[in-house]
Amino acid sequence: MKENRNAVRRIGVLTSGGDAPGMNAAVRAVVRAAIFRGIEVIGIRRGWNGLINGDFSRLDEKSVAHIINRGGTILYTARSEEFRTEEGQQKAVATCKMLGLQGIVAIGGDGTFRGAQALSKHGICVVGIPGTIDNDIACTNYCIGFDTAANTAIECIDKLRDTMQSHERCSVVEVMGRHAGHLALYVGLAVGATAVLVPESNESFEEEVIEKIRNARLNGFTHYMVVVAEGAGSAFDVAKRIKDEIAIDPRVTVLGHIQRGGTPSARDRVTATRMGYHAVDILANGGTNKIVCIRNGVMCSVDIDVGLSEQKGIDQEEFTVLEAMTGI
Ligand code: F6P
Repeated sequence: MKENRNAVRRIGVLTSGGDAPGMNAAVRAVVRAAIFRGIEVIGIRRGWNGLINGDFSRLDEKSVAHIINRGGTILYTARSEEFRTEEGQQKAVATCKMLGLQGIVAIGGDGTFRGAQALSKHGICVVGIPGTIDNDIACTNYCIGFDTAANTAIECIDKLRDTMQSHERCSVVEVMGRHAGHLALYVGLAVGATAVLVPESNESFEEEVIEKIRNARLNGFTHYMVVVAEGAGSAFDVAKRIKDEIAIDPRVTVLGHIQRGGTPSARDRVTATRMGYHAVDILANGGTNKIVCIRNGVMCSVDIDVGLSEQKGIDQEEFTVLEAMTGI
């Protein structure tokens, strides 16, 4: 352990919002990086609710041993309605003061960072780490969990393809992404989908799905894989439209929460570890109101206010490639 020459002696760490594989690796990295600098870490359980309710415990080197490989989050997670209110935020500030927390590392997505923004406006130092399988935080190219979730979805869809191919059927698979199609687009590219529906696209259903299946049939294919992002509509509705319009009777699979679990991939473990280290570095150097990010391959940070004001569009290059892959 290094001598702690800076003023920061104790910080908190929490996970909030939908969990993502790699969150545990991030918690571990925060704890280990902090202890390395002589900073004590308090684990806040159940997201922002833990700060409101005083739900916490001390984390030492051993308490985060053997979690780098585990999905989920040992700190539990929640979406907190109370934390959106001034009263809830005041309770959280009081807990921080009572515990002597000089900073909080909050791991999660958009909602988590809105909470972090609110808390930092109350004078508490907060640094966010992006962890969401949706990969929809605009200020960073990558969010922890995306790679593992994509690989889980790909593995499932590969299995579906076997049976679709045998029966010469159409499969409509819904992947997560309430507002964003990053996961669907990436997975669609990886499984060689016939068509991919994402909420960000302006194309018509006819162009985006029907014509693609028609072309595939004209090219001699007899099974089809349609990947739908949750935010683009229900897979059941998509299947019904396909049946109504071209008399093919698809089978529907909603992958759901299976995508959020499982052993984190190497990319998620390493990214989480690096982000955890950088979050502690920011707090230890007196920084606050930041989101740790990767931009153009470089680990850095942006102001939370700036990060939350940016919009993440679909990756245009990936979309163009997909158009070429599905357009024949
Ligand atoms: O964490 C993001 C996400 O997985 C979205 O893709 C999905 O719409 C949502 O969470 C599901 O949330 P819940 O766990 O509340 O069902």
